[in-house]
Amino acid sequence: MAPFAPGKTVVVSGIQSSGALHIGNYFGAIRQHIALQHAHPSYYFIVNYHAMTTVQDAAQLHAHTLDAAVTYLALGFDPDRSNLFVQSDVPLLNELTWIFFCLTPVSHLEKGVAYKDKVVQGLSPNCGLFNYPVLQAADILIYGGTLVPVGADQRQHIEMTRDIAQRFNNRFGEHFPIPSAYILDSVATVPGIDGRKMSKSYNNAIGIFEEKAALTRRVKRIKTDSTPLEAPKKPDKDNVFALIKLFATPEKQAELREAYLAGGYGYGHAKAELIAMMLDYFGPARERRRELLKDMDYVHDVLRQGARNARVVADACMERVRKLTGLMTTYG
Ligand code: TRP
Repeated sequence: MAPFAPGKTVVVSGIQSSGALHIGNYFGAIRQHIALQHAHPSYYFIVNYHAMTTVQDAAQLHAHTLDAAVTYLALGFDPDRSNLFVQSDVPLLNELTWIFFCLTPVSHLEKGVAYKDKVVQGLSPNCGLFNYPVLQAADILIYGGTLVPVGADQRQHIEMTRDIAQRFNNRFGEHFPIPSAYILDSVATVPGIDGRKMSKSYNNAIGIFEEKAALTRRVKRIKTDSTPLEAPKKPDKDNVFALIKLFATPEKQAELREAYLAGGYGYGHAKAELIAMMLDYFGPARERRRELLKDMDYVHDVLRQGARNARVVADACMERVRKLTGLMTTYG
């Protein structure tokens, strides 16, 4: 399906705030978020309600939320073009979530991948985690979102959102547009230092703004095979090369591919290249981040204004939803 259908496109996406954002987040989501803000009205929110399913430490949740905002602004998010705000600054979201709970079969949530994973691991998930996709549906639909740029792992959540929107519309009357996921498959998975998908929960991530010393330590730990230095190496089987591909120009990539295939080029060399490329790639953003950290009032202003805009849209949505569903407001 064409991601840019004619008519009104509203871009909506959630930003995780359960820890420092890593390069998997960057190539899987942040980069697209920032690119899309130029084309359409957009709502990007830091999903602190969602984070609460796992982060239950006030100082940590607060710090991670602000860190996500600073990261987006440093990487080029333009608050004059689109809205950046904190999810919980639109508490009306909880009202829509409740209504959606009542439209969602338990059996659908039992099929949730994140939920099933926990159960398989023998953990006992909390209700928040079980209901996570329903809150996500409310997130998207309350702003009339039509296009949701996300990593490939979110496909199921967007399916559930479409399902809920359809069920609402069938039962109560046309209200919600049916959103589409916008997934860039080519960059959907970034390997972590152990070769599995980069994820905070696997403890294999490389942070976007990791300082040189920490970055070097991290990259040195990237798993490689034991091919000796002199021997030819297989670039397409190597984790270091997979990361290099994200940062290198096509020419540089071709040059390093040759070096791998020729032999005499070690993983240590490749790692040194990778570190230099990463520092270079995120250099300007790192500088902007330093400036932003000195001016947190500005960051707060951005979030406040974003939330103000979002609340106007959410208010209008909920007024109509209450009418359609027969919920009454007897005040005001
Ligand atoms: N679940 C998403 C993730 O893990 C984050 C998210 C929450 C989201 N609400 C959203 C994404 C709404 C898109 C739209 O990445």
